[in-house]
Amino acid sequence: MKLDKGTQGPGLVLRRVAMSATAAALSAGAVFGGGLATAAHADSATLTGVVLGVGADETQRVLSWYSSAGTAQVVQVAPASKVVDGRFPANAVTFPATVTANVVNGGYNAHATIDSLKQNTVYSYRVGAEGNWSPTYSFTTQDFNGNNLDFLFFGDPQIGSSGDVAKDGAGWEDTLNVALAANPKAELLVSGGDQVESANTETQWNAFLASDKLRQYPWAATIGNHDVGGKAYEQHFWTPNTDRSAPYYNGSATTRSGGDYWFTYKNILFIDINSNAYASGSDAAHIAYITDVVNKHGAGAKHTVLIYHHAIYSPASHANDADNKVRRQDFPTAFSKLGVDLVLQGHDHSYSRSYVIKNGQKANKDEQPGATEVSKGPGGVIYVTANSASGSKYYDLTAPDTTKDPNYGPDPLNPKSHWANSVENQEHVRTYVRVQVRGNKLVVENLRSGTCAAPNAAVELGQESWCGPDSGATAAQPVGSTVDKVVIHTNEGKAGEDKQAASESDWLQ
Ligand SMILES: [Fe+2]
Repeated sequence: MKLDKGTQGPGLVLRRVAMSATAAALSAGAVFGGGLATAAHADSATLTGVVLGVGADETQRVLSWYSSAGTAQVVQVAPASKVVDGRFPANAVTFPATVTANVVNGGYNAHATIDSLKQNTVYSYRVGAEGNWSPTYSFTTQDFNGNNLDFLFFGDPQIGSSGDVAKDGAGWEDTLNVALAANPKAELLVSGGDQVESANTETQWNAFLASDKLRQYPWAATIGNHDVGGKAYEQHFWTPNTDRSAPYYNGSATTRSGGDYWFTYKNILFIDINSNAYASGSDAAHIAYITDVVNKHGAGAKHTVLIYHHAIYSPASHANDADNKVRRQDFPTAFSKLGVDLVLQGHDHSYSRSYVIKNGQKANKDEQPGATEVSKGPGGVIYVTANSASGSKYYDLTAPDTTKDPNYGPDPLNPKSHWANSVENQEHVRTYVRVQVRGNKLVVENLRSGTCAAPNAAVELGQESWCGPDSGATAAQPVGSTVDKVVIHTNEGKAGEDKQAASESDWLQ
């Protein structure tokens, strides 16, 4: 590979591969699947489903896409300021893609990692090859230093679950537009799983990936039970640091997707596990994976955020599923001991925010329902479940039922709710979760991205009979309004942190 250290723009030290050298680089580095011999030339490949993903850290991004042909392809990147009238500069850098034959639905999937990104820079990029480029997209890096990070968490878009892909896609696209208009400096879009209803149905994936926001902000994919039963999830999303050992799959890896992965972003450690695999020792294997990642990479992390699909403190229809009862026993004590701060989950298409939970118990019996400020303390963990981000399907809150699980009964302070949850909410409107990391604080909010009006597929199609707060008794609240907000103090008394917390104490005002 040719290295060029002298011609990049200021501060840009990306590996440069001259186009003339690209073919040689690809032949050495790319992994091609079967059928290459009959592949078309690059200039005839149809490129679809381009999606920006997270890399191993804040200096990386990953591009994944589909190609109709298994030809040599790259991602080309340049500072946006150097791209004039759509023309990339001569010193634009290219990163070779790995191109692999799809195992379902034909064609190929490609991915490439962009690295050595600089902070506070707008980059333009396109995928493909000379003579056959995708449209040009852009993304922006923020300040890589400091303790501030905003990211957004989205539950179960599950495109197709209402039965109307177009309506589900419209709600999803609107939530992305609303969320990113309100939070243009969000640095990550984090998935709660269930991107689509049917794992290998590409029309649903096309609708999921339709928004250009997914080419501008990195998507941290999470696998849901609706994604797991096919290979399309893995074909669409390449993830960093992924362990594809057997325990991280619930069945054959030749026909199903899976794997656990992690990344760091600034000083936050994110760990994302495939909760579909839970039986036959998989929960223990997940804990071993998380333990290993925390041991190796947690020392420099200010906070640890864990993400998986199946909410263990479900507020709604999945509250007492057999698999959920198992995870509820298997996970919480380990997460406390590992110093996990925040757990982000999906699956229940309704919102919940737990009390501070330590070793599977409420840490402070006096913590009040809906408290707007909590101190986590050592071993304390907050568990959040995201509501539907697309409006394709909602689940109604369920009453605690100790006949189904004696360990998941009512909250003495609020018997309508499950004991673990400070807040449970369902209004049949689209919402998303915003997390603002501010030094020793995590601010978690559930925000409305829609109203009862379209796009709201489940309501439009009559699958819900009411809409709005208090089971529809109260008028729907406006887009952007707050369902829940909590400031979580994570200061665990480490040396030097009190002073920092004090100096940041006025940031909310
Ligand atoms: Fe779901």
